[in-house]
Amino acid sequence: MQVFQKICRFFLLILNITIHTCFLCDYFRQSFLGISEGLPIHPMEKLIVIRESFPERRHMDISIIGTGNVGSTLGKRWAESGHKITYGSREPQSERVQKLVKESGNGASAANNHDAMQASPLILLAVPWKAAEDIIKEGGDLKGKVIIDCINTFPDELSQSLAEKIAEWAVGAHVIKAFNMTGSDNMADPVYGGQKLSMFICGDEEDAKGQAASLAEDLGFEVIDAGGLDSALYLESLARLWIHLAYNRKFGKRIGWKLLER
Ligand SMILES: NC(=O)c1ccc[n+]([C@@H]2O[C@H](COP(=O)([O-])OP(=O)(O)OC[C@H]3O[C@@H](n4cnc5c(N)ncnc54)[C@H](OP(=O)(O)O)[C@@H]3O)[C@@H](O)[C@H]2O)c1
Repeated sequence: MQVFQKICRFFLLILNITIHTCFLCDYFRQSFLGISEGLPIHPMEKLIVIRESFPERRHMDISIIGTGNVGSTLGKRWAESGHKITYGSREPQSERVQKLVKESGNGASAANNHDAMQASPLILLAVPWKAAEDIIKEGGDLKGKVIIDCINTFPDELSQSLAEKIAEWAVGAHVIKAFNMTGSDNMADPVYGGQKLSMFICGDEEDAKGQAASLAEDLGFEVIDAGGLDSALYLESLARLWIHLAYNRKFGKRIGWKLLER
């Protein structure tokens, strides 16, 4: 009987050690490597790792097409962060656009849409949807360029995202959907009571996505990698909900998205 009890105790001890070892391994994997079941690397950490490996992203050449609410807000904030901005406009010499160039500083300039799109490796398209196709055609050869698309509209059919259409028009460019699901006031200041708003981004090319993530972090957003460009429809739907809440439901523009996790 005593021998049987000893054997049972021995097996209980082994079981106990196994359970604790598994727990510690899992804790270690989750805490130090950011790896947990079914989620190889935390999406946010993944983007931060990409950003840190490319310190040259601190000072990028960026062409911003469209000098309205979004173009002027992002242009001024990115210039403040050390980026060199070329604004693309239908009226680059107008008093309004020249005032924006002056306010931006840090070597900013303005050109027509074609010249601006050729001027930098990274382009932000901040124009109305109805003008997007013509402007992309006007841009000429955009192969290898990163295009950040922040455009929203309320289309009749929703089977394909605006971003995927832009990728078809801009042959060979790396299209990233970002900066579309929040208002331009939030782009000017994305921090609510010490909490960073989330910026969801998606695209098929990791390096291009890293550049867009870096620019969102410069503004003060917490970046969430939503996946490939086939996720753009979700980001565009989120924007429609934001617009619905802000204007139809009269919440106003001082609202934003925050992804929580536990
Ligand atoms: N407003 C927001 O809070 C917000 C937030 C997220 C996303 N978005 C999206 O971002 C894009 C820009 O929004 P926005 O609020 O900045 O618009 P906006 O103030 O109307 O400015 C759009 C700019 O696009 C340029 N443009 C080129 N072709 C045009 C045309 N045919 N008609 C009108 N403008 C033309 C204009 O710049 P030039 O006159 O210099 O050519 C104009 O200033 C839109 O697609 C919008 O859905 C807006």
